[in-house]
Amino acid sequence: MSNLAINGGLRVRENFLSLQIPYLGEEEIRAVVTSMKSMELGGDGPKGRELEKIMENYLGLKYAFLVTSGTSALEISMMVAGVGQGDEVILPSFAFVSAANVVLRQGARPVFVEIEKDTFNIDPESFLKAITPETKAVIVIHYAGHACRMEDILKIADEHDILVVEDAAHAIGAKYNVSYLGTLGRMGCFSFHQTKNIICGEGGAIVTNNEDIAKKIEIIREKGTNRSSFLRGERDKYTWMDIGGSYVLSDLLAAILIEQFQKLEAINKMRRRNALTLTEKLKDFQDKIILPVEKEYAKSNWSLYSIRVKNKERRDWFIEALKAEGIGATFHFIPLHSSPYGKNALGCKEDDLLITEEVSQSLVRLPLFAQMTEGDLDDIARAVKKILPFI
Ligand SMILES: Cc1ncc(COP(=O)(O)O)c(C=O)c1O
Repeated sequence: MSNLAINGGLRVRENFLSLQIPYLGEEEIRAVVTSMKSMELGGDGPKGRELEKIMENYLGLKYAFLVTSGTSALEISMMVAGVGQGDEVILPSFAFVSAANVVLRQGARPVFVEIEKDTFNIDPESFLKAITPETKAVIVIHYAGHACRMEDILKIADEHDILVVEDAAHAIGAKYNVSYLGTLGRMGCFSFHQTKNIICGEGGAIVTNNEDIAKKIEIIREKGTNRSSFLRGERDKYTWMDIGGSYVLSDLLAAILIEQFQKLEAINKMRRRNALTLTEKLKDFQDKIILPVEKEYAKSNWSLYSIRVKNKERRDWFIEALKAEGIGATFHFIPLHSSPYGKNALGCKEDDLLITEEVSQSLVRLPLFAQMTEGDLDDIARAVKKILPFI
C-alpha cells in the first residue's frame, strides 16, 4: 500500500504540519490512467458499478449509489423523503451547512436543536422536544465519525413517524455497536471529499436498505429519468419519470475510490492509533483542555481530532499560536442558528442554543491523518504544552 505523501512528490510537512492530508498512492495513479485509457469516464460505468457493489458488501446493505458529493446525497435524501413546503426537518445547529441548505431548497423549514457537550452530536432530548405535527424528518450528523445515540434517536423517530437521514459524511467505516454508520437510518449519506478519510476529490454516496427508496434515488440522481434501468438492458429507451438532477459520479473518480476502499480499514486503523496516541500525549493538560471522547457504543473512524479549550476567550489566540509553532489548527462549525443566514433569514437568535455556542466557541481541531509519525504527534504535544500556560 503506497503513500505519496511520504514516498512521492507530496511532502507531509516543511516546518508545518498540515491539518489533514489524504492517503493516496501509486495505485490511485494507475487506476486513473487505466480508467482514462478505457474511455469510460461518464457515470454508471463499470468502475461505478464495481464500487457500488463493494460498498454494499462492506456496509452489509442492499443499495449504494455513488453521487457527486455528500451534499448531493443529502439533497437527494430530502427529495426522496418528499420533504416540502409546510414541513419541518430537525437537525443540530452544529452541522455542516449542506444539511440546512437541502431542507430549505425543498421549501421546508430547518429546526435547529442542541448537541451533547462531549460528542458534539445531536442531543436526543432536544430532538424530542422540537417535534411538532409538521416534523417530517431528522438529519443526524455523526461528528468526526463518532456515532450519535442511534437507539434513542430511532426510537423517538419511530414513535413519531419521522424519517431518519444519517449525515455520515465523516463516518465511513465507523460503527454504532456492531452496525456501520450510515446503515441505521432510512438513508445514509457519505462524502468522499478531499478532506475525508477516503477520497476521490469530490464525491459521495447515498445508501439504503429500502427497495422503494432505492428506486426513487436511482431516478432522481439520473436527471429524473430511468436511464439506469436502460443501461442495465431492462428497457430499449429511457425517459423522464420525475424531477431530478445530475448527480452521478464520474467513473474516473470511482476508479480512484475503488483503490481508496481497499485501504479504508488500514487508513482508519492508522488514524485510530494516531488519535489515541495524541490523547495519551495530551492527557496531562486536562486542566486547560478537554480531550475527545469515544463512548462505549461507538467505534469512531477518527475523521477529525477536536479538543476544546476551557478558556474560550483565548481560543482564537491558541489557534494562531499553534500555527506559529508549525501546527495546522482550525475551528468549525459556526453554528447554523447564529450564522448570518440563520439570524437574518431564519430569525434565529444566538442564545437559542447555548451548548452549541459554547462548543463552537471553544473547539480547536488539531492535525490528524493516517501517515503521521510519532515525531509529528510529539510536535503537537510540545506546541500545546508550550502555549497552554498563556491561555
Ligand atoms: C458533516 C458534513 N456533511 C456533509 C458534508 C458535505 O459533503 P461534500 O463536501 O462532499 O458535499 C460535509 C463536508 O465536509 C460535512 O462535513
